[in-house]
Amino acid sequence: MKIAVAGTGYVGLVAGVCFAEVGHDVTCVDVDEAKVKVMESGVSPIYEDGLEELMKKNNATGRLHYTTDYASAYANAEAIFIGVGTPEMPDGSANLSYIATVCRQIAESVEHDCLVVVKSTVPVGTNDKVEQFIKDSLEKDVKIEVASNPEFLAQGTAVHDTLHAARIIIGTESKEAEAKLMEIYEPFGLPIVSVKRRSAEMIKYACNDFLALKISYMNDIANLCELVGADIEDVAKGMSYDARIGERFLNAGIGFGGSCFPKDTKALKFLAKQNGYELKTVEACVDVNTRQKTKMFNKAKDRMITFDGLKVAVLGLTFKSGTDDLREAPSVENIKLLLEQGANIYAYDPAGVPRAKQQFPEGTIGRGSITYVDDPKEALERANICFVFTEWPQIREVKPASYKELMKTPLVYDGRNLYGLKEMKDAGVEYYSVGR
Ligand code: UDX
Repeated sequence: MKIAVAGTGYVGLVAGVCFAEVGHDVTCVDVDEAKVKVMESGVSPIYEDGLEELMKKNNATGRLHYTTDYASAYANAEAIFIGVGTPEMPDGSANLSYIATVCRQIAESVEHDCLVVVKSTVPVGTNDKVEQFIKDSLEKDVKIEVASNPEFLAQGTAVHDTLHAARIIIGTESKEAEAKLMEIYEPFGLPIVSVKRRSAEMIKYACNDFLALKISYMNDIANLCELVGADIEDVAKGMSYDARIGERFLNAGIGFGGSCFPKDTKALKFLAKQNGYELKTVEACVDVNTRQKTKMFNKAKDRMITFDGLKVAVLGLTFKSGTDDLREAPSVENIKLLLEQGANIYAYDPAGVPRAKQQFPEGTIGRGSITYVDDPKEALERANICFVFTEWPQIREVKPASYKELMKTPLVYDGRNLYGLKEMKDAGVEYYSVGR
């Protein structure tokens, strides 16, 4: 099928590439000319396992194209997928201006009947508005219908999550739209759940917020474990055998970050408020996460007289391993606090440094400073204190003995529970982690 995809971020690009992979004829549309050139040369603008291989392969088959010329991409497309961002507004609501821009472009460009599919995460009811908005602005006499098809990929495993998704959710208001989406997804051979549009929109938020709740719940229990002398790792293990709970997303730590959970919890809270409802569970989830993000810093602050002039090793900057993304990463808030206190930070991350430099340029910042290093051991050399913010394998590989040997004072605050308490104690490291 002839498909156009608007937006080449995590959602749009991965969807476009995977549609081409299963045999569709795909054109990815982006406003950025330089980005289009990069993608045409088979280079991915995002760090995502397996994506470049599939881009190169499908660029060569002639099934995958990139353009800034939206008019020609949309003119004859049988389906147009919208995968542009819906960033958070200051009040927690979703900013729909990018979606609106794409809708205007679709309305002025389409020359044939076409299905518009919203993949971006949007508040419940947005698809109705999108359909009305496009219909109001259409320039030709064509039939347009809008469907919802939320995306469940996680960063770092986006290609795998798309090709081997647990399920595909499609939300439609007509048999024709349902049949067309079924046809598009048929080659993936995955279970398809077909519901009405508003339910599809809600499924996305309900899933993300449920997972976020699971993490906040574990962080809450972890904090209580610390107070009563239980070990959250053992507690999580014991819980995981109950199939009703499941074994995944039980890791307590420094709180969730990324482009989805923080934004989607706030957006659902906002949607509830707008509808006169108080969504108490999600509100609690957001509050627990906010507190959890600076828990390690506050623990360290209780122990230290000052951070002023101290060498502080920061291991891990990204919001999780396997990505170069720093959005809502706990490291960011902690670095700000450490710099305010005059710390000299030496930061290591295998993928996040270029983006971190945009936010915290190397050198003096206020009372403190930040230096980026290529090896965790360089960060630890003669450091007074170390914080672990991301669970990268390269950080996990650092042996407990190395902290003792390299650091001036072997004092480690681990927000990811990478080490056993006994191994750190045996190595002579003063070690603080979460929930144990
Ligand atoms: C998430 C959802 O998993 C995905 O389905 C959705 O489409 C987008 O949002 P992503 O943000 O890429 O994906 O990462 P994910 O692996 O879910 O982790 C999110 C955050 O939760 C990270 O900061 C991670 O460190 C944290 N997390 C995850 C925990 O703290 N504990 C866990 O047990 C799992």
